[in-house]
Amino acid sequence: MKKIKIDDLIAKKNREKIVMITAYDALFARLFDEFADMILIGDSLNMSFGGSSETLGISVDEMIYHTKAVQRATKRAFLVVDMPFGSVITPKIALKNAVKIYKNTFCDAIKIEGGKEMADTIKLLNQNGIAVIAHIGLKPQLSRQEGGYKVAGRDENAAQSIIEDAVALEKAGAKMVLIEGVPSELGKRVTQALKVPTIGIGAGAGCDGQVLVWSDAFGFYDEFKPKFVKRYMQGAKMVREAMKNYADDVRSVKFPSAEYEYSK
Ligand code: KIV
Repeated sequence: MKKIKIDDLIAKKNREKIVMITAYDALFARLFDEFADMILIGDSLNMSFGGSSETLGISVDEMIYHTKAVQRATKRAFLVVDMPFGSVITPKIALKNAVKIYKNTFCDAIKIEGGKEMADTIKLLNQNGIAVIAHIGLKPQLSRQEGGYKVAGRDENAAQSIIEDAVALEKAGAKMVLIEGVPSELGKRVTQALKVPTIGIGAGAGCDGQVLVWSDAFGFYDEFKPKFVKRYMQGAKMVREAMKNYADDVRSVKFPSAEYEYSK
């Protein structure tokens, strides 16, 4: 299986959609690697696996631990690691943390949430050999400040500012731009304004690619479904059924039966 490189992804712009999904462990990364162009070790890990209501609590070291697990199980997909909340507060701190992630993992790029104010940081990282994906639009790391997760760029001033973010970050050296939670018409305008590919999540079909959080897409987290999530399986229902069958078998002494026992 040939490893996907940044140039392969850039070449897909206006030709072929890019498929991205999150993964946080080896078990699922192994299953996704054959089909995904990109795997994101997202800070959504703190929500889907950490059980938190926000992404803010995860550390650089925890991101490294999960990235190592994902990389052990993948041969093909381009691996992107989220820079967690607080890890990019100055360009110098961002460089130190990104270098730590690069040295401790074999990731292919890091992702930074933020608009034009992150241009200097992206420029510095780029100059130091670190590939950066910019994350604009709805920025989950601002959820506490903004009092939740709100669709971004609904009025023309806000939309214009998001287009300016994208253009400034491309100019600073971002290899790709991820756009979250914006009207689909804006997703398309950002995509048309850039030479580098865009990846959308809740940003419509006009982006060059799509990303979903895997536990949402496969229904393992079933307490809430954002509008933009399509459910490809009912994971939670299937696990509950399997767990119930196992518990029933143990309690009724159906399992372990003879075929699962060792003889002398
Ligand atoms: O952390 C994450 O999973 C993300 C997605 C919302 C793209 O950044």
